[in-house]
Amino acid sequence: MCGIVGYVGPREVLPLILQGLKTLEYRGYDSAGIVILGEDLSLFKRQGKINALEKDLQGLHLDGRTGIGHTRWATHGAPTELNAHPHLDCDGNLAVIHNGIIENYLQLKAELLRLGHHFRSETDTEVIPHLIEEQLKSQSSLLGATLAASAQMEGAFALAVVSKRFPNQIVAVRRESPLVLGVGKGENFLASDIPALLPYTRDILILNNNEAALIEESGIQLFTLEGKALQRQPLSIDWDAKMAERGGYEHYMLKEIHEQPQALRETMVGHIDWDHSLVLLPEFPDDLLTGARRLYISACGTAYHAGIAGKYLIESLAGLPVEVEIASEFRYRRTPFVEGSLGLVISQSGETMDTLAALKRFKEQGIPTLAITNVQGSSVCREADHIFYTKAGPEIAVASTKAYLTQVLSLILLAVKLSQLKGQPQPELVCELKRIPLLAERVLAELEKTVQEYANRMRFLDDYFILGRGLDFASALEGALKLKEISYVHCEAYAAGELKHGPLALVTQGKQVCILATQRNLFAKTLSNLKEVKARGAEVLALSFPDGNELEADEIWSLPPTLDPLGPLLSMIPLQLFAYYMAKEKGCDIDQPRNLAKSVTVE
Ligand code: AGP
Repeated sequence: MCGIVGYVGPREVLPLILQGLKTLEYRGYDSAGIVILGEDLSLFKRQGKINALEKDLQGLHLDGRTGIGHTRWATHGAPTELNAHPHLDCDGNLAVIHNGIIENYLQLKAELLRLGHHFRSETDTEVIPHLIEEQLKSQSSLLGATLAASAQMEGAFALAVVSKRFPNQIVAVRRESPLVLGVGKGENFLASDIPALLPYTRDILILNNNEAALIEESGIQLFTLEGKALQRQPLSIDWDAKMAERGGYEHYMLKEIHEQPQALRETMVGHIDWDHSLVLLPEFPDDLLTGARRLYISACGTAYHAGIAGKYLIESLAGLPVEVEIASEFRYRRTPFVEGSLGLVISQSGETMDTLAALKRFKEQGIPTLAITNVQGSSVCREADHIFYTKAGPEIAVASTKAYLTQVLSLILLAVKLSQLKGQPQPELVCELKRIPLLAERVLAELEKTVQEYANRMRFLDDYFILGRGLDFASALEGALKLKEISYVHCEAYAAGELKHGPLALVTQGKQVCILATQRNLFAKTLSNLKEVKARGAEVLALSFPDGNELEADEIWSLPPTLDPLGPLLSMIPLQLFAYYMAKEKGCDIDQPRNLAKSVTVE
């Protein structure tokens, strides 16, 4: 995820911007750049890490009281120096840095080329300075021109704009991608995340969605994107340095659980035509998907559980047979592949040795390969034929949370796309996807305290069952893994209908059992499984939608209603929180659990 830093004030700007960008390095990036506005507009940018840029600029002292800096996580255009931000207008008098994706950049670029603008990079971002340059022919302020340009852009973006014509000003705009402002005395700051500002000020203004700011030494003015002035008092942030690094959360895992709504939003950007309720999946060629007769999914751990959810989704929505294989097994199997086989690997890190071996197995068999991964430039990206990037941003905690949810979302998009290619669009499902990030925010707001209290009551637990049918079984597997890997509680996930074939013998008085019931078409059967374990003395926690209230469970966590295929995107959140708060109760090392690594690059 890109990082943004901006400053207007009397301090030496270059070292301040460099330091701010280094604070944001954990967000992950592949190039960096800075503009300092003094007598002239000085631009410096470099592929690779900030210290390469810092080395280049060692000993350089520039006048100027305004600067912006950026670390880029490449989306459109390779991670090269030319594609690094900031990007300039034709005369190099105006500079822009940007987080997000401009979905209609190709149309905008064509119009700007027709108007005589010339471009230097292959990025979507570079249309922005030229749009503002065009607007400045009729607008008298940098703010007005930037707002007018923003109105022409579709997609998610956080912008910072400076211009020689308007010295000592930064204009910032937020649509989806986060931006925060630091309020100083005779100086003011901008960043994509609070930690970059704390060395200078603890008075923070959060720029809300669809808002803009004019940042000057004398103060910060807030506006709606229509230019209407807004008033807001800054927050006083009392985080320590460690907390600052984790965005105010005690652990990366909790931060990343709370980042899930935004990760879902960002993963959807550029992949849905909301006007026509259609999924767009340019990363996977239509002819490849149309010609598939069987899809083989191979992955490890959490990614494997996403693959199981993908099986249920793709088979039910698109009627394409799917086989899901644990990569460490699959790589040694001699699977007889049918004509029209398609291989898909899923990997957050893109470096898991077993998953890479599975990918190579597909390639040895001449099978076209797709990949869903979260890390640009990873080994999976170099090996797979076609890559879909989840936009979860860097996932630091060993326990995967936001990467899992965006993997499941990616598989929902793939299932709908396959269905569309068969002439069966899924408008209702696509429409509902728009609500999911908000519903995920509701789950966090409404259930976190309940989950924390439940975890406190369960703190002496040493074994646990999570049951589910269909998609709920896939979620049960992932919820059980979370509990095992960070709270060290032995938790078994089981297909609810399978319990009576043996494991029911383990259910005795007081056994703690969680039942997932978000699949309405399986609700009656799941209800009978609940009765089955209750009859043997189990204490049951049920996760369901409000219409599941006839569940006779000891505790019910009610989820905001949504369509069955999207149930896992909501039910997983309380399970992640349960594992987190159980680990907290037990004093476990949450972000770095014993024996585990974030990326398993060994066999
Ligand atoms: C999940 O919480 C674990 N960290 C682990 O199971 C992980 O999902 C697995 O190692 C696969 O990693 P990958 O997605 O980076 O390939």
